[in-house]
Amino acid sequence: MQAIDLLLNRSSQPRLQLPAPEGNDLEQILQAGLRAPDHKQLTPWKFIVCKEQGLDKLGEIFVQAAVEKGAEQTFIDRASQLPKRAPMVVIGICKYTEKEGVPRVEQICSAACALHDVQLAAKALGFDSIWRTGSYALDKHVKQSLGLAHEDEIIGFLYLGTSPLKAIKKPEKNTADFVDVWQ
Ligand SMILES: Cc1cc2nc3c(=O)[nH]c(=O)nc-3n(C[C@H](O)[C@H](O)[C@H](O)COP(=O)(O)O)c2cc1C
Repeated sequence: MQAIDLLLNRSSQPRLQLPAPEGNDLEQILQAGLRAPDHKQLTPWKFIVCKEQGLDKLGEIFVQAAVEKGAEQTFIDRASQLPKRAPMVVIGICKYTEKEGVPRVEQICSAACALHDVQLAAKALGFDSIWRTGSYALDKHVKQSLGLAHEDEIIGFLYLGTSPLKAIKKPEKNTADFVDVWQ
């Protein structure tokens, strides 16, 4: 796939099944994430790759978070199933380091680029994905369970696998609606 085709046609797929990337494919996908723009080389990111029992572990963390905030039983029951909407979930994390000239927002941007690069690389190798956040991405219990410090952020849960469905062609956006040209 040509890089420009990938960039012009990337789309998300919520329905995901096996196969998920493994071996050299997974290595390349993660390496693509590590090539994200990175001011002062702080590498302000970390990925947690959840598969097989790792998805149960993540689901259990969601359950505990739901219980802790006093959620209704249906919400709690659903929590354990959320990560199983794909055969793999890559959790993208911003690991913040205090550094003059690189404010927190820049480090969050960098980690978001890294997760998006993972999404694009997965697509380039024939896999599908959807980036999700939801209330668990901001949840204190979830953040603590994943080993995040107070200033760190969960950037997203990238659900990864292969979709049985064809990509839906998205309506084209008009460039001029979003771009001003100064000359
Ligand atoms: C930071 C971030 C968080 C998102 N969180 C969710 C989410 O929790 N649930 C969801 O359905 N889509 C979420 N999305 C949007 C999807 O990833 C996806 O972009 C959207 O469904 C549009 O599809 P497209 O990527 O094919 O244009 C999020 C996107 C971003 C960038």
